[in-house]
Amino acid sequence: MKGRAAGVVVLVCVAALTADYAVKIAWTAASDVRVAALQEKVRADAGLAAALAAEQKKIADFNQARRTRINWLSLVLIVAAAAFLVEQPKAPRRIPEKPQKAAGVRRGGKPVVTGAAAPEIDLAFVDEVVAREGRGTEAAIPILQAIQAHYRYLPDEALRRVCELTEITPAQIAGTSSFYSRFRRSPVGEHIVRVCHGTACHVAGARQITDELRRELKIAEGEDTDPSRTFTIEEVACLGCCSLAPVVMVDEHTAGNLTPATACDALGEHA
Ligand code: FES
Repeated sequence: MKGRAAGVVVLVCVAALTADYAVKIAWTAASDVRVAALQEKVRADAGLAAALAAEQKKIADFNQARRTRINWLSLVLIVAAAAFLVEQPKAPRRIPEKPQKAAGVRRGGKPVVTGAAAPEIDLAFVDEVVAREGRGTEAAIPILQAIQAHYRYLPDEALRRVCELTEITPAQIAGTSSFYSRFRRSPVGEHIVRVCHGTACHVAGARQITDELRRELKIAEGEDTDPSRTFTIEEVACLGCCSLAPVVMVDEHTAGNLTPATACDALGEHA
């Protein structure tokens, strides 16, 4: 209602300024004609100088009054326009949905994804993190780090909760989570398979090892996790045991000197 009233005031001010300008154009043209005529007469009759001075004073008064009127109308227009903009309904802040493929069970208090339904999301944890880290935009990275550490990825529900509780916007979250590669927007598998792509491992056939593991685990193009959410494959830099190249690390277990034929042995009992 306030916004509508402010909008009406804006329209009235614009109309008044437009009308004032039209009046000024017509009035100036008429007064110019009168002044020119009086100047002509004053040349012949000096006694008309007082009438010319009176006409010129009338023009000056008109211009002064108009300046005052325009200043007030402009001020009212600015205030009304600002009120109109402030009263506009705000679009709801929204985190884009990501498809969820997996189910959640709890292990050691943290969600672990192993099935086909959405993981269990404990939003009370998000509330605790926000209370601890603060509600300002500067808390975005610590909050996302805590959520990532707890859920092992950034669930959409948790991110929406962050936006509700803080000054952090969906755009800021999207920018931050895509800039830092350690942030994940999709659930991670139960086991992390790190395939070393450092120089020694690359030369020793890391690409073929990766391809074989992806083929065996039926990981789709563009994905990094198998359909059952058991394994997530990551390509990492040197794991620090180059003499064993090519090297694969499954959780905390390291396997080296692999070939495409033996690559899946690294998955051990989990496969
Ligand atoms: S390059 Fe792979 S362990 Fe060093």
